[in-house]
Amino acid sequence: MNKPKVLITRKWPASVETKLKQLYEVSLNEDDRPLTPDELKSALQNYDAVCPTVCDSLPAELLNASNKRCKILGNFGVGYNHIDISAAKANSLVVTNTPGVLTQSTADIAMTLLLMSARRGAEGDRLIRAGKWQGWCPTHMLSSDVTGATLGLIGFGRIAIATARKAHHGFGMKIVFFNPSAPDPSVIEELHATRCDTVEDVMRSADYISLHCPGGPGTRHLIDDKMIRLMKPSTHLINTARGDVVDSKALIEALRDKRIAGAGLDVYEGEPNIDPEFLTLENATLLPHLGSATLSTRTAMGEKVLANLAAFFEGREPEDRVV
Ligand code: DGY
Repeated sequence: MNKPKVLITRKWPASVETKLKQLYEVSLNEDDRPLTPDELKSALQNYDAVCPTVCDSLPAELLNASNKRCKILGNFGVGYNHIDISAAKANSLVVTNTPGVLTQSTADIAMTLLLMSARRGAEGDRLIRAGKWQGWCPTHMLSSDVTGATLGLIGFGRIAIATARKAHHGFGMKIVFFNPSAPDPSVIEELHATRCDTVEDVMRSADYISLHCPGGPGTRHLIDDKMIRLMKPSTHLINTARGDVVDSKALIEALRDKRIAGAGLDVYEGEPNIDPEFLTLENATLLPHLGSATLSTRTAMGEKVLANLAAFFEGREPEDRVV
């Protein structure tokens, strides 16, 4: 029997690519060059499975392409706001993602950004590299305490809970959060957490706000100028979720006018094209979407896609089916 034809849109960890080669007639992307919309469309027409990543945009006009051979999109990533899920469903395309395996590494990056923003880590690194450090003195680069401060989480899924655990058990932080649905009461008890009724309540009360809601039309610019104006001048905003959850222009203005203390960002509206204004702000800590970027996590994400493809092609229900 012919092996299914599988297209991988970007370079994956070597051990996963080796397995893909054994199992499928696979087209890898040795150059790691992002595919154009036309190349993605042609992939949908010529492969049984297409495995995109979180930076491959798959809007309705591509998913509605005629003469599709593709039956499954095995997404390499937990977020799937880059795929028009209604169009996928309408075209009977199965979509899978990779939840669970990137929880800890993404929560680690949220804490990295929180600590760097609070303690002005990126700014200090830039100062030394620029040869401008004049030596220790009692008032140099004073910053904010993390230990014992209040962490507010918007969204309280796996990654938010893992971040809250690190913050509470590691740094004695108080936890407040907003989530549309009620989480497991044992988690609230473990973290002595307070569930807020509204996002506004979190914005007003926390010293550090970490975003953990999914991206997409439902949360686009959830954190807009009005929300940012509720933050205390001493508060820092951390975003490891999706760039478009925050109105970048409003955030830039707040950082520039020092209406908030800082921002630690791993994701951006329109990434990898970043609003150049961010680069001028000392109180912005900027990382290039590193949330899941450890070798073991990225390998585990690839293994998840392999398991989802195997289930699909063997006629079983893929564990991480989105639609
Ligand atoms: C995801 O999987 O959605 C992450 O953003 C990738 O790090």
